[in-house]
Amino acid sequence: SAPLRLGIAGLGTVGIGVVKIIQKHADLVSVRCGRPVTITAVSARDRTRNRDADLSEFAWEADAVSLAQRDDVDLFVELIGGDAGVAKDSIEAALRAGKDVVTANKALLALHGQELAELAEAEGRVIRFEAAVAGGIPVIKALTESLAGNGINRVMGVMNGTCNYILTRMESAGLPYETVFEEARQLGYLEADPTLDVGGIDAGHKLAILAAIAFGTRVNFDAVEIEGIVRVSIDDIHRAEDMGYRIKLLGVAQMTARGLEQRMSPCLVPADSPLGQLNGGTNMVVIEGDSAGQIVLRGAGAGEGPTASAVMSDVIEIARGTRLPTFGRPAASLAAAQPARTAVP
Ligand code: HSE
Repeated sequence: SAPLRLGIAGLGTVGIGVVKIIQKHADLVSVRCGRPVTITAVSARDRTRNRDADLSEFAWEADAVSLAQRDDVDLFVELIGGDAGVAKDSIEAALRAGKDVVTANKALLALHGQELAELAEAEGRVIRFEAAVAGGIPVIKALTESLAGNGINRVMGVMNGTCNYILTRMESAGLPYETVFEEARQLGYLEADPTLDVGGIDAGHKLAILAAIAFGTRVNFDAVEIEGIVRVSIDDIHRAEDMGYRIKLLGVAQMTARGLEQRMSPCLVPADSPLGQLNGGTNMVVIEGDSAGQIVLRGAGAGEGPTASAVMSDVIEIARGTRLPTFGRPAASLAAAQPARTAVP
């Protein structure tokens, strides 16, 4: 049957990863979808940059908004990033032009997810975003599909690999925060604005997205109580160790009698628990379903292969004809959750 034709906006690490998977696994993807998946056109800020993939067969579009509106694009893949600007404009243009959207944009969904979900529904299109939370870990699909028969009691996890790397390395090498932060910078782990990582904001974005899906509430990033890892000292880490604990930047979302609790902060976790055994740049998400019980998902939360793998899972879902609502249920049914604010620290 007819191919699903992609337009990919943004050819950074993730975009190139997607191109490579489609080129390497064309046959596999085609069999699994019942139709071929092709790339017709791409856009990127810098066309001349040397990229580690063969892009010669794709048309180049000058900007993401015009890419999103091309007649020969069925599915718009937004891998530009940023919580507004061209990422938001191009996604809206794609939806209005009758295209489905796949994105990895956690910040955009955390801040404008409700608005985009409503637009997608009004236009009869879908937005999928498996790559936006915990990279290669299939946590969005776990919540919206595999665990759809559960009421969710709690979702928690370590969702920023950079912070987990920094905390783990401070602990194992006995190095102060500033030194390890510099190391992380050298290794290229940090976001362009490192405050997003170490300030807990990036992880907070991801938690807000998961909470919306898990509890059927409108995504409410402003209500996430956030404390980053900047003030965690090597002494804190060693004292925790002595008591059999480790410090993790842990996100917790749960529905309480007082409302929806969303917290992202350095927490003590027992050293022998799954979360306590998480090292390096890895992510872990723990979901507690009322029938399934506790599900622990662990894997790479960033990087070319893992993130592109998650993007591909959405591309394949759409190629197969599955059409899920953005947050797992109709946008209008999402409740404006009362945030359960605890005392401001
Ligand atoms: N800066 C993020 C992290 C990248 O370290 O986890 C993946 O979202």
